[in-house]
Amino acid sequence: MQQHLTDKNIALDLVRVTEAAALAAARYIGRGDKESVDAAAVDAMRIAFQGLHVRGTVIIGEGEKDHAPMLFNGEKVGFGDGMEVDVAVDPIDGTSCAAFGRPNAIAAAGIAVKGSMFNPGHSFYCEKIAVGREAAGVIDIDAPVKDNIINVAKALGKNVNELNVFVLDKPRHTKLIQDIRLAGARVMLHSEGDIMAAIMAVDPQAPIDMLIGVGGTPEAVVSACAIKGTGGQMLTRLAPRSEAERDAIIADGIDLKTIRSIDDLITSDQCYFSVSGVTDGELLDGVRYKGEYAITSSLTSRGRTGTRRYIQAWHDRAKLSKMSSVAY
Ligand code: FBP
Repeated sequence: MQQHLTDKNIALDLVRVTEAAALAAARYIGRGDKESVDAAAVDAMRIAFQGLHVRGTVIIGEGEKDHAPMLFNGEKVGFGDGMEVDVAVDPIDGTSCAAFGRPNAIAAAGIAVKGSMFNPGHSFYCEKIAVGREAAGVIDIDAPVKDNIINVAKALGKNVNELNVFVLDKPRHTKLIQDIRLAGARVMLHSEGDIMAAIMAVDPQAPIDMLIGVGGTPEAVVSACAIKGTGGQMLTRLAPRSEAERDAIIADGIDLKTIRSIDDLITSDQCYFSVSGVTDGELLDGVRYKGEYAITSSLTSRGRTGTRRYIQAWHDRAKLSKMSSVAY
């Protein structure tokens, strides 16, 4: 019997959601106003979700940690028919990057069949280590960083001094950065944006081989949606940064010691992901303008098939402004 994929790939519709967020946020690039960047992206995402034929519940709305505008946890999104799904959004990851015109700001969203997404409750921070397929089996979150670096370099067929390791440029990483340098690898410091870092770590085209350090827990769940489609691995462990955060996690009944892989963060292959560039990055272009057009660059992926698509879209702003309340 001849056979081909007949089921719907929701990622192909989800891309319109991240495009809308990127387009709306792009109007605020470089204006030094984080709140407006975030608010524009959140509003656009909320509107664009109405066109997605799912019955979605937001599990990861983000924003709570830094009191940013957000899609609320528990909020219902989607047209209200089709598959019941859990939703993880980061309308803008790298809000300051967008506000101050720095690279690698993105709009990202992942969805997975209902009940399959890890709900981090009140956890804001976790340890993360992410790598692509070839090195997926050699990382160990408990091992010294030097061992991880040597093993990842070997798995990738690189010399240690050719390994690009993404680390968020934060005081909490001073020792980690020293250790990576002592091991002989290259530290690629970025002020923000560890969702894009995770995507780059697993993408064979990107100039990052590994992400390591402590970053956002909601961001880890969004990243897991991406990695399910790309392949690769990310190991995480909650790492509360205050007593209040620790107590709240314990009150949520979430175990602090558990090491969670991408299959623990997203337990089903029925998951879909999209990311659109806001400012220019190493993997995706930011929003560009040419005459009546606004141009977006996005990446979508699907867990079940592992298909990834890079999508460049030309949005006719004159036409769209008559039919959409998203600000193009
Ligand atoms: P926002 O753009 O949503 O503020 O997140 C940026 C980010 O760098 C994330 O990529 C990362 O996971 C998190 O912040 C780290 O948090 P912190 O800046 O508090 O260390």
